[in-house]
Parts: sequence; structure tokens; C-alpha cells
Amino acid sequence: MATGSLIGALVRRLEGKVALVTGSASGIGECTAKLLAQHGATVNIADIQDELGYAVCKDIGITSASYVHCDVTDEIQVRNAIDTTMVNHGKLDIMVNNAGIAGTNNPNILDNSKAEFEKVLSVNVTGPFLGTKHAARVMIPSRQGSIINTASVCSIMGGVASHAYTSSKHGVLGLTRNTAVELGRYGIRVNCVSPYLIPTPLARRFFNLDPEGADEVYSNLKGRDLKPEDIANAVLYLGSDESKYVSGHNLLIDGGFSIVNPAFGMFDCL
Ligand SMILES: NC(=O)c1ccc[n+]([C@@H]2O[C@H](COP(=O)([O-])OP(=O)(O)OC[C@H]3O[C@@H](n4cnc5c(N)ncnc54)[C@H](O)[C@@H]3O)[C@@H](O)[C@H]2O)c1
Repeated sequence: MATGSLIGALVRRLEGKVALVTGSASGIGECTAKLLAQHGATVNIADIQDELGYAVCKDIGITSASYVHCDVTDEIQVRNAIDTTMVNHGKLDIMVNNAGIAGTNNPNILDNSKAEFEKVLSVNVTGPFLGTKHAARVMIPSRQGSIINTASVCSIMGGVASHAYTSSKHGVLGLTRNTAVELGRYGIRVNCVSPYLIPTPLARRFFNLDPEGADEVYSNLKGRDLKPEDIANAVLYLGSDESKYVSGHNLLIDGGFSIVNPAFGMFDCL
């Protein structure tokens, strides 16, 4: 590749691609939608916070972004979001199932209600299931596509969040692996990204954090803060052709948090 086109490819890594990002009116999803658009993708913003969703669209620019109201727990709305993308852009290359809720921070199982448990699972697992199903419906005929689910460090460890949230994120990882196996035959890749703590509205509400961040919370990697753009960059990689042979992967963006037990070991981690 000539130097000029190599630089071009590095600057706009998703030129000509079409993406749909759920939960992109805020937080990690918003940042992801903006980064994908910066890299040349046309992005469909899907959320239930319409005002914020339209504002994100406006920030990106209406030639590169559009908004669709979509409650990810409702199959008709998910189907509509995918079909709208197809009508407007003729294809879907990247599906990001990012919408999620944390539920309530109630550390006693005896006080956890079935309704609350099911609500978290409905948004966090049923949502990605429906998003994957309807993305696959339109990706299978074109024999390509990248589906990226937002999981969490809670996809591989216990004790960090509620029973509902932890169960849901283990579920997202299971869904990712199962669908990666099934859809691989059509050339469709399925991966998930697993962030550690970022003080978005979701995490601030759940952990009662101040707006500035999570300074008091244990981090393995010192001197750096995890930001939404770190997750967006991981999604960019998984959505681009640079990851063309990566499927079924859980990309942890946690600064090593999930591989250390700071309470015991030979290094002074705390
Ligand atoms: N912030 C963290 O520390 C952290 C860590 C690990 C994983 N995550 C995951 O990242 C994802 C994004 O969360 P965030 O931290 O950016 O929070 P956020 O609250 O800023 O964004 C979540 C978005 O999802 C949308 N949403 C909620 N329910 C929806 C529904 N039923 N249908 C459609 N959209 C819906 C919200 O309106 C919001 O715009 C979630 O899946 C979350 O579990 C977050």
C-alpha cells in the first residue's frame, strides 16, 4: 500500500461502513457512535432517550448519523431499527449491542425482587439477543458483519455488582460465544468488550460516585483513568477489518483488574 493510502486507512478505518449502536444517547455508546463516525462510518443511534439521541446525531452531523427510538427489550422496535438502517443505507456492517442498565444496588439477596432481576436481564441479555438476531437476519445474505456486545468485567467475575447485573453480563458472554459459533459459517464475527468502571450516568447512579470519577475505587493500573473512548477504541478495532479473524473474543478493558487478587500476592498492588 502506498504511504498516502496507508495513512488514509489509519485515519478513517471504517470508510463506507454502516453501524447501528444501541444505548448511544449517553456514556460509552455515545462516545462509540462518535468515534465510528469519525472513522467514516454512517451511524444509526438507537436509544430510548430521544432528546439526547437527537443531540448526539446533531453533534455528529446529519449526513453521517440518524436517530431511531428503540427499546431493546421490544422485538418490534429492534426489528424496526435494523430495517430502518437497511432502508436508509442498504446494509448493516457493524451492530453494537451496548444498551444496558445496572439496576438497584441492593447487596442482600433477600431484598432483591424477581421483577428487578428480570428487568435487568431483559435489557442486558434479551436486548443483545434481539439485536444479534435481527442484525444476523440482514447480515447473513451479505455473508459479512461484525456484532459487538458490551459486557463488563462482571462477565467473568463475581462480587463487583448486583446478582442481576453479574448474571446478565455472564449471559452476554455466553450469547457472544454461542452466536460467534453459529454465525461464523456466514463470515459474521461476534465479540464483546468488557469495561471496568467508568463514571457514566449508569455507574455514577449505581455506585453513588461523584461526577468527577472513581478515584477512591481500586484500580490495578495506576496513573491512568478508564474513559469511554478506551471502550470506543476497542469497538472500533472489532468493527474494522483489522480484526477480521477475531471472533468469540471477550476483550477486557480493565487495566488488569480481573486478573489480580490484590488481597494476596507478592506485589504491593493496593
Ligand atoms: N460505566 C461502566 O462502568 C460500565 C462498566 C462495564 C460495562 N458497562 C456497560 O456499558 C454499557 C453502556 O453503559 P454506560 O456506562 O455508557 O451507561 P449510560 O447510562 O451512560 O448509557 C446507557 C444507555 O443505554 C440506554 N438504555 C437503557 N435501557 C435501554 C433500553 N431498554 N433500550 C434502549 N436503550 C436503553 C440509556 O438510555 C443510555 O443512553 C452498558 O451495557 C453497561 O452495562 C458500563
